[in-house]
Amino acid sequence: MAREPDWIDVGAAEELSKHSCRPVKLKNTPIALTFKDGKFGAVSHACNHVGGPLGEGHLEGDYIICPWHNWKFHRVTGKGEPGYEEDCVPSFPVKVEKGRVLVDVANPTKRNKLPHEPHPLARKPERAPGPHDRQQLRELAGQRIPHQVAWAVLLNQPLSGRTHRNSPRIRPQGQPHDSRRSSP
Ligand code: FES
Repeated sequence: MAREPDWIDVGAAEELSKHSCRPVKLKNTPIALTFKDGKFGAVSHACNHVGGPLGEGHLEGDYIICPWHNWKFHRVTGKGEPGYEEDCVPSFPVKVEKGRVLVDVANPTKRNKLPHEPHPLARKPERAPGPHDRQQLRELAGQRIPHQVAWAVLLNQPLSGRTHRNSPRIRPQGQPHDSRRSSP
């Protein structure tokens, strides 16, 4: 059931019509206000995807393109692009009276989010042992070796650049801590 309208004066139509798409805040309601072909539109500022700022997007035909990941919503109805109409953001009644743009913030349409395939990069994190030998790491830590040297040893890479001049010698794997003590 429609509620009592709460028309908020957004500003002068002449001034607001200079911007095709802009964010405005009415009371506590952020809105994407658009103007095209002599008609204003007002939809929620928050994109259905992950809340991108629709009012900072741009128009492609009658669709607002979200500046974050390019989802599209109709600038007047709030419906998603063709094929995704049910994925819609709230839209607000708009009218122009005596040269002023008025938006009814009390009667938005409902937001509806459709399930989407997860992004290819969005995968569940899996914990697994790393490629490095824990024992070797512990030994290197015990020798107080600078971390850049330790990583070079672990990755079997030649050392490049300067290392700390007081660094202890790196003990090759398998040799005792102090080769002088173990010599006959
Ligand atoms: S937040 Fe709008 S497309 Fe991603």
